[in-house]
Amino acid sequence: MAANQSPQRFAHIIGWGKYVPPNVLTNDELAKRVDTSDAWIRERTGIMERRIVTKETTAMLGLYAAQEALEVADVAPNEIDLIIVATSTPEYIFPATASVIQDQLGADNAGAFDLSAACSGFVYALSVGAAMIRSGQHNTALVIGAETFSKILNWKDRATCILFGDGAGALLLRASDQPGGILSTVLGSDGSGGDLLNVPAGGSRNPASLETVMNNLHTVKMNGREVYRFATRVMVDATKQALVKANLPLTELDLLIPHQANARIIDYAARTLQLPPEKVFQNVEHYGNTSAASIPLALVEAIEAKRVNPGDHLVMVGFGGGLSWGSCAVEWTAPTDKRLITPQRAAQSRLRYRWANFKSFSHRVLRRVDSGVTHVLDRIEGRQNGHSG
Ligand code: ACO
Repeated sequence: MAANQSPQRFAHIIGWGKYVPPNVLTNDELAKRVDTSDAWIRERTGIMERRIVTKETTAMLGLYAAQEALEVADVAPNEIDLIIVATSTPEYIFPATASVIQDQLGADNAGAFDLSAACSGFVYALSVGAAMIRSGQHNTALVIGAETFSKILNWKDRATCILFGDGAGALLLRASDQPGGILSTVLGSDGSGGDLLNVPAGGSRNPASLETVMNNLHTVKMNGREVYRFATRVMVDATKQALVKANLPLTELDLLIPHQANARIIDYAARTLQLPPEKVFQNVEHYGNTSAASIPLALVEAIEAKRVNPGDHLVMVGFGGGLSWGSCAVEWTAPTDKRLITPQRAAQSRLRYRWANFKSFSHRVLRRVDSGVTHVLDRIEGRQNGHSG
């Protein structure tokens, strides 16, 4: 290495966390609302149940997943310098859900933004976070996938409402001079298929109106068959491309973490890649499709199930609205044991988040007081200037 060359930087995963709302909605319960059956849903999708928020919001789900990732990594929120939230169900159009989570975590040194790439969003966000770290712009990036898809479903449309669920997952990335971590990423898009999977209204093209609400245009519309055809193709291709880019033969792949949309799509990809079941992780049966949350949720459950070990090579692969797709090869170097979270550390964290909430509250109050006092002072000064003039 030349004297003026800086050492090569790598982006390692150092923490992981997930959160799903406790409320379970089974196929049988769904069959009471729409003309469907447990047998049809299981056979066509592999889904048995999904989690649906009651009072929780997207930011809350993302926050809880992020807190777990920080605890696993033993990293304080003020060490984070970037937060990216992949979501299609943000808290608001703006501010970004990432900013809401930044505030609630007390991550005072972090930039924060949302990323919209539907179900491919988490892989896109991971790719951006890793690139920011490798470039030297950032050292510690929190990447979250969080969704409350239940809020944008037409619960009378049996073709879509049976497929989706709510949840969140988070990974914490950190710069290192040791090789490993995120090895390669592949991102793709075919906007000509945008109409196959979309939410037609609520954006600037079709702003919210009485008519858009009456016509249910704020809910997910999907051409299931076409999306299925697209998904089976890109899952296989993108997996191979991530491996090639990382210089890994398929035989070196220890675990595939595919987007959890449909068990048949996952099985097709596994068969085509000739991967045995133990090399493909699946939890779609319990959560349905949680969009940008699905890959981190699956990865965290794979870790909890002891299916990920230090030195393993993983590929995460996603597809979704856009149309879009993305894949990412990883050499696993993070801890795999949740017991690292001691009760003392958990208590410290609770205290830290209460303090962050209090600080946020006091900033809001002070900003209002400051604005009021400044307004009064300006008026007094204006009056005095008027008198003297
Ligand atoms: N219960 C019972 N019958 C149903 C249901 C249901 N919930 N939904 C549809 N049907 C009926 C249809 O009306 C149709 O009836 P018909 O033959 O009388 O017309 C029949 O079942 C077959 O419908 P298909 O759409 O052909 O069923 P298919 O086997 O393709 O399965 C599914 C549908 C599950 C949606 C499948 O196409 C699929 O998984 N597609 C991919 C979806 C996906 O992965 N989306 C990810 C989105 S990622 C993101 O960015 C959000």
